[in-house]
Amino acid sequence: MLTDDSTSVARQYSLTDPLKVRIQTHERYSERIVDLNLVSEQLMELNGPEDIADVGCGPGRFAQHLAGRGHRGTVIGVDQSAAMLVEASAVPQAGGAMIAWVRGSATGLPVAEDWADWVVARHMLYHVADKGAALAEFCRVARSSGRVLLSTNSERSMQHIHDTVDALAERFSLGRLERLGASFTMENALPLLTRHFAAIEVVTIRDALVIPEPEPVMQYIATLFPSWPAALDLRREMEQWVEAEVAHRFGQMGGLWRDEKLTVFYVCHPAAHHENDCVVVSREW
Ligand SMILES: C[S@@+](CC[C@H](N)C(=O)[O-])C[C@H]1O[C@@H](n2cnc3c(N)ncnc32)[C@H](O)[C@@H]1O
Repeated sequence: MLTDDSTSVARQYSLTDPLKVRIQTHERYSERIVDLNLVSEQLMELNGPEDIADVGCGPGRFAQHLAGRGHRGTVIGVDQSAAMLVEASAVPQAGGAMIAWVRGSATGLPVAEDWADWVVARHMLYHVADKGAALAEFCRVARSSGRVLLSTNSERSMQHIHDTVDALAERFSLGRLERLGASFTMENALPLLTRHFAAIEVVTIRDALVIPEPEPVMQYIATLFPSWPAALDLRREMEQWVEAEVAHRFGQMGGLWRDEKLTVFYVCHPAAHHENDCVVVSREW
């Protein structure tokens, strides 16, 4: 949904509320009960003492989840947004994990070479212009026995919401936003990843947002307003347009907003290798 232009990314994440609203919408209105923090933890097969770099950690939910589950290793949460790190560090820490919050970039991590048992970069690589540099950096930081956990969306996820956002952008001449991080999706990620890793397990989660009233859809769409500088002056008109448009689409859908979504995790094993050597296995969650 967002562009990988660093100014736009900085603007979008200079506030923490928009991301929180989107996460809460997924938590409240997903058809399946799938806790992505728990999925991540299970894919990582953690035993407790692992050192983890969480790149693009946002408000720090994953590190806090691990601490609450008794993780004992060190977790370094890295994000380019100071606001996200302030919010992350304000949460009282549970359990015995050591958590450090550090401002930094995916392409120049403030983490020592060969330090991490796991490098985690969930729903963030689509924001990075030089993805190859970020992946090389993840491999630098991961130990030889370490692994990298990535996640992103399918380009087919949440078509109804994104069609509405495109119509909004057109109506107010705002410039179309990149859909769901189109530069790194389930459909286009593998050719890039196979150049950096020796083995990759692809785990797909099929789900849907099922929303019984217009308000949460309107709020979700409003979280994207900061992506457009012009929206500052047009906010009221845009809100009114979204309210009418969402009500209209709700009517067309028979009073229930249903948006299919696909999330994908990549469990990646770094190693120096030839492209053809990469082994890829896939499964559904
Ligand atoms: C969609 S949020 C994902 C948050 C978290 N990983 C999660 O799974 O809930 C993307 C996060 O990546 C951060 N980010 C974007 N580009 C970055 C970069 N180049 N380096 C570090 N963090 C970045 C943003 O500030 C934001 O907090």
